[in-house]
Amino acid sequence: MNVSELQNKKKQGKKIALLTAYDYPSANLLEKAGIDIILIGDSLGMSVLGYESTVPVTMDEMIHHAKAARRGAKNSFLVGDIPLKGSEGAVSGVVKNAARFISEAGCDAVKIEGAGEALGKIKAVIESGIHVMGHVGLTPQTADKLGGFKVQGKDALAAQKILDDARALEKAGVFSMILECMPGELAEIITENLKIPTIGIGAGIYCDGQALVTNDLLGLFDKFTPKFVKKYANISEGMLAAFKAYKTEVENLKFPAKEHSFTMKPEEARRIR
Ligand code: KIV
Repeated sequence: MNVSELQNKKKQGKKIALLTAYDYPSANLLEKAGIDIILIGDSLGMSVLGYESTVPVTMDEMIHHAKAARRGAKNSFLVGDIPLKGSEGAVSGVVKNAARFISEAGCDAVKIEGAGEALGKIKAVIESGIHVMGHVGLTPQTADKLGGFKVQGKDALAAQKILDDARALEKAGVFSMILECMPGELAEIITENLKIPTIGIGAGIYCDGQALVTNDLLGLFDKFTPKFVKKYANISEGMLAAFKAYKTEVENLKFPAKEHSFTMKPEEARRIR
């Protein structure tokens, strides 16, 4: 998968599937499942690191996890999400952080949230030769300025602003765009108005592709479940049952059994005793 193949999918009317990964095993399974785009999302902060939001996530944490994901998915199209701490400050710093995803973690592209003030930084990253995925609608890094984790663009005026942002991002040169948490009608209009593929998360069926946070899809994140999440599994239940069974077997001397144990020759055992 590469940028032009992704863009061709839109032209051919073929849907794009994006999921997040933060480690070797999940990235490896996403690659085996043929997922088109693996996003090392800063949802890492809540899904894996136990933060209350994505805001505290650092560049070093993102790079650490992106490297692990790349080890698991050697051939997939990997996008590194620049966290808030990596996109604040000078333009040159943001370009440097984007380059870290490419050179240190082997990502194929980066994602940067927002438009408006972020546009200059996004343009600079693209001019440095790095592919950028845009992200409009609900942008979790600045959710406090958007009234919290709420559906965005519900009235025509607010919707027009998101459409304008999407157009500006396309003009700046982003290769695709996340549309997060907005009415399906707005996502449809944006999708029709852009040449680049739109990838929706909570943005209805008319986007060129769909995204979910993998730990939500697996039922591995129990703090809250947004309405747009479909749980395809309940991995937490299976994991909890396995941990409990292990504890019981350890306490009852059922684990380890003979087949899990090593032995030495009887005379060697006698000697050491
Ligand atoms: O961080 C993330 O996982 C994301 C997705 C919600 C697209 O940005």
